[in-house]
Amino acid sequence: MKILILGRGGREHALAWSLARSPLVEALHAAPGNPGIAQWATCHDVDPCDPQAVVALAGELSVDIIVPGPESPLVAGVGDALEDLGFPVFGPGKAGARLEGSKAFSKGFMARHGIATAPFDLCTTVAEAQKALAKRSAPFVVKADGLAAGKGAFILDTYDEALAICRDLLDGETLGEAGKTVVIEDHIAGTELTLLAVTDGKTVRLLPPSQDHKRIFDDDKGPNTGGMGAYAPVPWADAALLERIDRDLLLPTITGLKEEAIPFRGVLYVGIMVDNKGKPWVLEYNVRLGDPEAQAVLPIFGGDWAAVVAACCEGRLGELDWPSPRAASVAVVMASDGYPGPCRKGDVIAGIDDIKGDQILVFHAGTAKNGAGQIVTDGGRVLAVVGLGDTLFSARDRAYEATRLVSFDGAHYRKDIARKAFI
Ligand code: GLY
Repeated sequence: MKILILGRGGREHALAWSLARSPLVEALHAAPGNPGIAQWATCHDVDPCDPQAVVALAGELSVDIIVPGPESPLVAGVGDALEDLGFPVFGPGKAGARLEGSKAFSKGFMARHGIATAPFDLCTTVAEAQKALAKRSAPFVVKADGLAAGKGAFILDTYDEALAICRDLLDGETLGEAGKTVVIEDHIAGTELTLLAVTDGKTVRLLPPSQDHKRIFDDDKGPNTGGMGAYAPVPWADAALLERIDRDLLLPTITGLKEEAIPFRGVLYVGIMVDNKGKPWVLEYNVRLGDPEAQAVLPIFGGDWAAVVAACCEGRLGELDWPSPRAASVAVVMASDGYPGPCRKGDVIAGIDDIKGDQILVFHAGTAKNGAGQIVTDGGRVLAVVGLGDTLFSARDRAYEATRLVSFDGAHYRKDIARKAFI
């Protein structure tokens, strides 16, 4: 197969690494890719969110399958434009992508299909937001309806702070269209879990459960980020919990999509809160692999990712043997100076070549090559250093030993990735 990957982040590098290991893959391409992805794929300077440009590239390269990494091309309808011309896409069309592209839609979907999610109100005016906040107590949860690159969800300690955010979004339009409707919902206390489900629309298969670390500082302090690290599997996500999630959350989601005639294939990311009584609730859906969850989960998948992609696109996932995962992995994200705020670019990254051995992987995210051919920082989340091991302990130790070998000005990373697994 010739496969075209869309995107330029760490998740897409992990996808390129996984697909390149398959004997089924004859050639890999990426749009636009990054210097890490370029080790495995030919990179093309094409905007992955421009349907016409992607269709033209797919035609020129005669690719067999397109694998979008992030949600933005799917929400922009790139999948539909490709499918209309007969190119199979490992991801949903615009209709299915609304599960991620509109929180108002996804909350309504869950309510319609009896899927446990925090009780909520949808507000389009400050007066409505005042009412919705007044019937709740702290902490207050406010979410922008549309895509906001990880900056659209707020947990506030006071009514006044929550109302100020609603004013900013609804009147100040701080997130533009994405914030013109806000979701105000009950806060559910508990522990977060990421479940990535692969589906061809009929069959659903689970990848190893993982846990993201969204705050910038250790012990979940500081502002939210795109994700500062992840590990898999999650030891307390036992078979009984996974069966309950499958029965109560996943199957009703797939059935609900069928009932509403929304085609869906690819990866359904279910962000789950397991409350203090052990009940799982859906916090959010995404319509693609998580980042950085993919960097932790794909290396321990244990099967042929290209075979999974092909089986999904051909509607025969049910025929595929589902592998047992390899043991454990821990992904530590290194970020650049200033992240998650405006950050510096162009700092030279040293030490990547000093990392040796097949139990360590380095996935590029915000990197570029400078005029001298050096790898430099080019974004907030720069790299994910992934340790593999027979246990989470050994995986974590490998990840941190390797992380200490990599350096660039202003580099920072969390020192407690996977610690929660051991508590
Ligand atoms: N790690 C969170 C996400 O991918 O949305």
